[in-house]
Amino acid sequence: MGRLDNKVAIITGAAAGQGEVEAFLFAKEGAKVVITDIQYENVQAVADYINEHFPESAIAFKHDVSSEEDWIEVLEKSIENYGKVDILVNNAGIAATKSYQDTSIDYWHMALDINAWSQFVGIKTVVPYMKKNGGGSIVNIGSLASKLHSAGGFNAYTASKGAIQSLTRSAAVEFAPDQIRINLIQPGPIQTNIVTRSLSKEQIDERAQEVPIRRLGQSQEVANLALFLASDDASYITGADHIIDGGLSVK
Ligand SMILES: NC(=O)c1ccc[n+]([C@@H]2O[C@H](COP(=O)([O-])OP(=O)(O)OC[C@H]3O[C@@H](n4cnc5c(N)ncnc54)[C@H](O)[C@@H]3O)[C@@H](O)[C@H]2O)c1
Repeated sequence: MGRLDNKVAIITGAAAGQGEVEAFLFAKEGAKVVITDIQYENVQAVADYINEHFPESAIAFKHDVSSEEDWIEVLEKSIENYGKVDILVNNAGIAATKSYQDTSIDYWHMALDINAWSQFVGIKTVVPYMKKNGGGSIVNIGSLASKLHSAGGFNAYTASKGAIQSLTRSAAVEFAPDQIRINLIQPGPIQTNIVTRSLSKEQIDERAQEVPIRRLGQSQEVANLALFLASDDASYITGADHIIDGGLSVK
């Protein structure tokens, strides 16, 4: 028996990294997964791979998470295919790394739209379907960067992730009476493209040495936490921050 049997989960940003691993794990645990990404070919390939292992478990859609129209379309297609939605993992995100002085209003809006407005509008879109269904679980992927300073010009990024942290709390309280739980995961450095694109190999090794566990985290480790929060095992947990950082924030 799987921990997500009979559940339908939407996972954004599932063409790579943490979202891809979450999609595979959720399907392995019995969920039907609706996986989306702005990179359609890659997310379709992830769905094909999942379906090879767990037949008819995954469908993929092209989805720009900063577009409300795209969200509405993804939700309508999810309901058409699977009849309901129980879980949303708001995972898609980008690393905005321009320095303070180089950050223009357009760059700021781009980062905030993709990382924060996306999660607001995702919640806004799924909640009516979850209410009809008697409840649900939403997992927002924030970042440790909204708590701890990150060198390298992460100003717009930290602001976007701070917005998500506050949003998680207010939305969790608002929708708790509807049995919709909303939690935040705050990863420290995790070995994915977002890190390898913004840091050199040397910087990654240095970063690993700063972490008490002496390595970067793996997508599988974040996926295990997302699975717990998405599942009924976390039935009394809502509005909470869940740090996963190898001890970085407490050293
Ligand atoms: N890797 C880390 O160290 C780290 C640390 C803290 C938080 N996070 C967060 O984890 C989440 C997942 O990142 P990851 O590490 O797997 O990186 P990743 O780059 O491997 O994956 C991010 C995915 O999001 C997709 N995406 C980007 N913009 C999009 C858009 N507008 N619409 C839809 N999809 C879009 C990308 O195509 C990609 O597939 C992000 O929210 C990121 O901010 C990552």
